[in-house]
Amino acid sequence: MKIIRSLSEMKAARAAAGGSVGFVPTMGCLHKGHMSLVELSKKNNTATIVSIFVNPTQFGPREDFAKYPRNETRDIAMMENVGVNIAFLPQAEEIYPDGFDTWVEVKGITDKLEGAARLGHFRGVTTVCSKLFNIVQPDRAYFGQKDAQQVLVIKKMVSDLNLNLEIITGQTQREPDGLAMSSRNMYLNQAERRAASVLCKALEKAAALYLSGEHHAERLKKVMAELIVAEPLANMEYISIANTSSLHELELIDSPALVSLAVRIGRTRLIDNILLAQPACV
Ligand code: PAF
Repeated sequence: MKIIRSLSEMKAARAAAGGSVGFVPTMGCLHKGHMSLVELSKKNNTATIVSIFVNPTQFGPREDFAKYPRNETRDIAMMENVGVNIAFLPQAEEIYPDGFDTWVEVKGITDKLEGAARLGHFRGVTTVCSKLFNIVQPDRAYFGQKDAQQVLVIKKMVSDLNLNLEIITGQTQREPDGLAMSSRNMYLNQAERRAASVLCKALEKAAALYLSGEHHAERLKKVMAELIVAEPLANMEYISIANTSSLHELELIDSPALVSLAVRIGRTRLIDNILLAQPACV
């Protein structure tokens, strides 16, 4: 595996690569969720490139940029084990040099859910992803369904700007108790880790009720909220049942629906989601 840290070296390596390139952009602290995206990429491409860059512009001033978990040595070993061809670890000074002042922003669907809770978050994500896409020039880029709104926003950017790559979504990977894999799970202490399975339980409950014939969004949300409120370490931020493409909230679930939620477990903010009519999470 080649480890590349400079943009010029990355561009040269891309120009030299024959065949198709799959790209998995990450912020590091890799886990099975990332590895499953690498596996998907390896199946469909000649070479797989993984980037690790903790992108400062997608964190709000009161968010966890400084303490976001970083473990380069472990990440490099994991990438090597799974057969990544190039690990791209750019430096912040090269991604955002002095005077950097150009932003890529998707409107509309970024006003809701994570975009409403984390102002400016998606502008940071789309800006860094368009930069990474320009540098790496992948044929396909891989994102996890756990960040469902992020996938939608990236797809919209790619379509609106006629970017020449395909966006592929990988399934959410889960711990045995259903907790969606996330680098932020590392923040949880033992009691919080146990409590965190409440997100998946609430989603499963909604899926079961939906399958039993309950199609009123408010009723599903109420049952989910009751479960969350009953967990002493959990503080609910939002529960949403929305159309999967517009993210408009639904009253009656009569179109494909994304059920998503954000919950604080202690001081850690976790998100999760399911698509309705698909199997529940565990
Ligand atoms: O999902 C992430 O890890 C980040 O938002 C991404 C896509 C790597 C952009 O910084």
